[in-house]
Amino acid sequence: MTGIDVARIRSDFPILKRTVRDDKPLIYLDNAATSQKPVEVLDAERTFYETSNAAAHRGAHQLAEEATEAYELARAQVAGFVGADASNIVFTKNATESLNLAAYAFSNATALSRWGTPVDPRFVLQPGDSVVVTEMEHHANLVPWQEVCAKTGASLRWVPLTDNGRLELAGLDGIIDASTKVVSVVHQSNILGTINPVAEIMAKAHAVGAVGVVDACQSIPHLPVDVSALGADLVAWSGHKMLGPTGIGLLYGTAEILDAMPPFLTGGSMIATVEMDRSTYAAAPQKFEAGVPMVAQAVGLGAAVNYLERLGMAQVAAHEQALTAYSLMAIGKIPGVRIIGPPEAVDRGSAISFVVAGIHPHDVGQVLDNMGIAVRVGHHCAWPTCRRFGVPATTRISPYIYNDLNDIDALVEGIVEAQRFFKVAS
Ligand code: ALA
Repeated sequence: MTGIDVARIRSDFPILKRTVRDDKPLIYLDNAATSQKPVEVLDAERTFYETSNAAAHRGAHQLAEEATEAYELARAQVAGFVGADASNIVFTKNATESLNLAAYAFSNATALSRWGTPVDPRFVLQPGDSVVVTEMEHHANLVPWQEVCAKTGASLRWVPLTDNGRLELAGLDGIIDASTKVVSVVHQSNILGTINPVAEIMAKAHAVGAVGVVDACQSIPHLPVDVSALGADLVAWSGHKMLGPTGIGLLYGTAEILDAMPPFLTGGSMIATVEMDRSTYAAAPQKFEAGVPMVAQAVGLGAAVNYLERLGMAQVAAHEQALTAYSLMAIGKIPGVRIIGPPEAVDRGSAISFVVAGIHPHDVGQVLDNMGIAVRVGHHCAWPTCRRFGVPATTRISPYIYNDLNDIDALVEGIVEAQRFFKVAS
């Protein structure tokens, strides 16, 4: 189909050899939730624990040195993958923590400023200020901003959606205006698959002096992404959706913004000096990495980066583009099925949500599961987006490098089987 050799890739993923539900081969189509892990990622973590396990950035013994080197090498690998410098990459627990780190910069700076601590005024919010998101945000890029507004008196605004699942950009100048202090948008929607013109939106944010944040959880694992081309001040994503382990997330920040932001979590290793009644903080990225870091997860993520770089992200994107076009055509022509999101394979990724007339999405998922096909059902942590389209939930597929057209054909059979089982006229 494309330059991606699916059979060879599948042989690298032990979990794809297992069967489920009475010995059915596993067809894994839930990669927007989490991707599976190739054996070299598993080996990298195990080898680290077997040979070099120690707390990075602490201690002067050989193992501590090796752990620190492994951790910093992983940072450099991730940075190279997205066209950044290692000093611009902060390791977090997951993308949700990365976005909270960004959001807490505003509520913490606002609280500190009330008591006379000098802070960068860009992060201080008050009534009359606005925070801008979109109607297709994952809860991780919505709820933290709601909290910031509740704590500071700022107002939340959002860019609405078209019926085709695109951002309604015509009114953007009336939404991002002189009151706007932060604009935080998703690059590729986890529920609709839409790829948004984030560079254009970030340029508007910067034109009014706002801080620009991008949630790139669903784009960086799937497309070649150069973070500086996004034009954002901060970019959040996770390791586990790009073949890496769970428990590690990323936040890219420009040097200037990371320097200006107050820390989120405080404690060991993020300090410069500590006295009984005050502390000063280390430079970024250490300022944002309190506590013993997740070294094994970082090492596993470094191996995942190597794996994706060997495949080539342009090839990964081309493979997914072909799968997306085929899936939209094959699912879209089943009578009674409505795709929620852009119906065409243009500026959209491989996550495809749909509803089947007369069958609850959870029931569709259950029939598929009985056939060995793993999809996600529910509101996908994007409840307002579901409301916008008048659906309580959707069934969602999200193929990746180890999926091929046979998987999509099996899915289509499964949807038709669900219609048969529930006696829904198709
Ligand atoms: N954010 C992940 C998803 O969309 C968990 O499924």
